[in-house]
Formats: sequence, structure tokens, C-alpha cells
Amino acid sequence: MNVNEAIIRRRSVRQYQDRPVEPQLLQKLLEVMPYYMSPANLQPLKFLAVSDPEVCRRVFPALKWAAYLPGYTITREQEPQAYIVILGDKSVCKEFQFAAGSATTALSLAAYELGLDSCCLASADRNALYPLLGIDPEEMELLYVISLGYGAHGGRTVPMEDSCRYYLEGQDFVVPKRRLEDIVRFDRWDNG
Ligand SMILES: Cc1cc2nc3c(=O)[nH]c(=O)nc-3n(C[C@H](O)[C@H](O)[C@H](O)COP(=O)(O)O)c2cc1C
Repeated sequence: MNVNEAIIRRRSVRQYQDRPVEPQLLQKLLEVMPYYMSPANLQPLKFLAVSDPEVCRRVFPALKWAAYLPGYTITREQEPQAYIVILGDKSVCKEFQFAAGSATTALSLAAYELGLDSCCLASADRNALYPLLGIDPEEMELLYVISLGYGAHGGRTVPMEDSCRYYLEGQDFVVPKRRLEDIVRFDRWDNG
């Protein structure tokens, strides 16, 4: 798979097979992490990999899944098999959003290339996660949690009409994407 295919085909996955992520695969995924883009090359992020089944089991209830689909639930067996928690190191700088977006993109594409599915989660009960994961919020800001595993549902995109809300078709997520002609111009925005 080339990078363009991965960008187009990767979808957020919120339900997983009952199959662990092999430790070597997780290690391989983490090895891409030094290479994300960051302003002034400050590289202010740290990456906490969580794969212990008991810790994973306790992380899951702190996450908010699929806000557009109230009542969406999965079984214990369908929960993520691992997580990578993206942390902002406050001793490096105070503003992490660009670096976090860049690292999240690199991570989810690298995971996809390795055959893993993922979902980036911003909605999380940080008060629960800081002590559970041994993070001192004075030192580190918990930015995103990336869930990982082998996907158990499909996903596809459709041209966006009037709503950006994803929806279910059976088990599959259908994700509206804005049309190319609505978001891209050459040379001048008004084409005048
Ligand atoms: C920064 C960020 C935060 C997100 N937070 C959540 C979240 O808290 N819960 C969730 O279910 N999905 C979350 N998502 C996933 C988005 O809903 C998903 O990327 C979007 O619907 C587009 O779908 P796609 O990733 O399949 O293209 C987040 C994505 C990003 C980039």
C-alpha cells in the first residue's frame, strides 16, 4: 500500500476483533513516532503505549465513542486491544495542537499500513486517565488517545451533502467527505 492509498482508505474504526495486537507490531508502529512534523522541530510529544489487557479494560470506559451515534455500544470482546496515548510535555512548550495533529496522522496511517485499525479520541475523562496511567498533569497534558486493533466493521466514504455526521449502515460506518470541487481551487479562490 502506498501513502496515497492509505490516506484515502483509512477509516476510523470503533469496534475490534477479539485478537491481540502482536507486541512486535506495536513496537514497529512506535518506531515511526520520532518522525512527525512539529513547529520549530520542538517535538514536544511523548507516546504511552498501553497493551496490558487489564489496563486496556480500565481505559475504555473513560473514552467517548461516536458522539454522532448516541447509544452506540460495543461488547467487552470488541473493545480496542491496545492504545497509544499522546502526551504533551510541558517542559518543552505549552502549545501542542499542531504537533498532536501531525503525530496523530502519522500514527494512524502507519498503523493502517501495518494492517491495524485505529480511532483517534479527543473526548476522554482525563481525570480518570491521569492517575490510571501514572501521568502527572503538571508535567504532561493528555492530548489524544489512539485506539488500536484489528477492525470488526467496515467503513466507506460518501460525497457530503448537507451533513458531516457519519452514520451506520448495518455495522459499517459511512463517512461523508466534502467534494474535491468544493475544497480545492487553483491560483485564485474566486477563479476571477
Ligand atoms: C482530533 C480528533 C479527535 C477525535 N475524537 C474522537 C472521539 O473522541 N470519539 C470518536 O468516536 N471519534 C473521534 N474522532 C474520529 C472522527 O470522528 C473521525 O476522524 C471522523 O468522523 C472522520 O472519519 P474517518 O476518520 O473515518 O475519515 C476524532 C478524530 C480526530 C482527528
